[in-house]
Amino acid sequence: MSLSLTQSPAWRALEAHRRAIEAMSLRAAFANDPARFDRFSLGIDGLFVDYSKQLVTGETLRLLLELAHSRDLPGWIGRMFAGERINSTEKRAALHVALRARGPVLLDGVDVAAEAARTFARMRVFCEGARGGSLTGSGGHRYTDIVNIGIGGSDLGPALVADALAPYCTPRLRAHFVSNVDGTQIARVLANLEAGSTLFVIASKTFTTLETLANARTAREWLSARLPGGASPARHFAAVTANLAAAREFGVDAERVFGFGDWVGGRYSVWSAVGLAAAIAIGMDHFDALREGARVMDEHFAGAPLERNLPVLLGLIGVWNTDFLGARTHAVLPYDQSLQLLPAYLQQLEMESNGKRVTREGGDVDCATAPVVWGAPGTNGQHAFFQLLHQGTQLVPADFIGCCRSHNALGAHHEMLMSNFFAQTEALMRGKSREEALEEMLARGVAPAEAERLAPHRAFPGNRPTTSIVLPRLDPHRLGMLLALYEHKVYVQSVIWGINAFDQWGVELGKTLANRILPQLTTSAPATMHDASTNGLINHFKAHR
Ligand code: F6P
Repeated sequence: MSLSLTQSPAWRALEAHRRAIEAMSLRAAFANDPARFDRFSLGIDGLFVDYSKQLVTGETLRLLLELAHSRDLPGWIGRMFAGERINSTEKRAALHVALRARGPVLLDGVDVAAEAARTFARMRVFCEGARGGSLTGSGGHRYTDIVNIGIGGSDLGPALVADALAPYCTPRLRAHFVSNVDGTQIARVLANLEAGSTLFVIASKTFTTLETLANARTAREWLSARLPGGASPARHFAAVTANLAAAREFGVDAERVFGFGDWVGGRYSVWSAVGLAAAIAIGMDHFDALREGARVMDEHFAGAPLERNLPVLLGLIGVWNTDFLGARTHAVLPYDQSLQLLPAYLQQLEMESNGKRVTREGGDVDCATAPVVWGAPGTNGQHAFFQLLHQGTQLVPADFIGCCRSHNALGAHHEMLMSNFFAQTEALMRGKSREEALEEMLARGVAPAEAERLAPHRAFPGNRPTTSIVLPRLDPHRLGMLLALYEHKVYVQSVIWGINAFDQWGVELGKTLANRILPQLTTSAPATMHDASTNGLINHFKAHR
């Protein structure tokens, strides 16, 4: 019988190493090694990553790389790019890389990259028509508003791209995103729109998702109630799906349906036709540049040696933080307002991919897997939750992400923003000892007794690990690189943990139960078939409607 992950020699070696460096001080590590920053940072095509403020030594990385080899990481990277069915529970390939490949990518003898290229060509015509005004609504009006209706990967990716790349969006078209089955969201969006100039893009890989279909039907009813008699709502819809028949059955014209294969996972689908609403907003050239940025990262991931491979290094450092240093959450802190949706996007990418407890073979995983991913843009977070990052009892590793140049260079705003980025990573790393806090107060003339009293409150433990990711500017190419970096990081971690990153069975149970409960909300008979709490809540809801 093969050894479990945590019994393996590579894992054991890391545990012993962790004990050996328990007292490691990042402050001392920088003081003792003037080359630490150079040794532990790496730039690829303008995307620069500094991981020198992580709680690692050269030996930590060496042992993590040994772990990666012991888990056959190079083999698994090769399998993904080769289109093997690594999504074993669904017997599917995970070939999102084919959506940004330059050459052919064969899956069962079919060139899926060429297939995708044909869809991109159709998308280009559609985008140009919608942007340029040759495609219009039923009354001949130009589209002024695009509403993407989708949820999860069919929402978070295009919403992030359209928001992050707002400076590249045409001012003629406003993009809106409706995901929630809560009618409040679509009601608020529709309240400000004209039916005649609105285009709905229904994005759903399966075209069976309850939330998306409910919102799509509401949109169709809204159009029917507002368009002049006889006008067809069909001119106000496009669809993006792997289930072409269902989209056509809904009433979307065949030439407005854009497909993609089941080898693209929902949370990896922004590069596919799922990006249509964003592509209309930013233009197809910029959408191509986004994919090209991801391709550069793919090439790096597939070709660079593991010790100089960014997704590999970030993935392994994440495993170190989670499994050896005991971190249970991971903060994503974009110091760029345009990346405000990145934490939500990465939540799905990381937590839906690796929030699992069963190995590929069906056994129990015997270590912690994906941390809880959360975050908010800097500097807002500093005035809300950074207190816990600096002085709380939990270790929260964080990614800081910022740009050298802003699209909105107002006065000294950008310098102020980035000075906070750098200061926070420095403060988290260095901390401030009780003695330093005391001395500072005494130097400011605080009475000694009062300084003694306050010193413990004003001390910072430091040693809080961060990674800094710095882009030249948030452009389509660099955004593509950044998102692909995280995709591959997640894959690296799944390989170490021995789990399938590409299924999501954990979302099923709640969906099934909701379908069972739905009819019970509209009958007069009290609910009795559930546990006392669920029955009680349903009956309370019915009694108070
Ligand atoms: O329920 C989870 C999920 O399947 C995600 O994986 C997916 O991104 C989302 O729902 C939306 O699915 P679809 O694109 O099929 O509507």
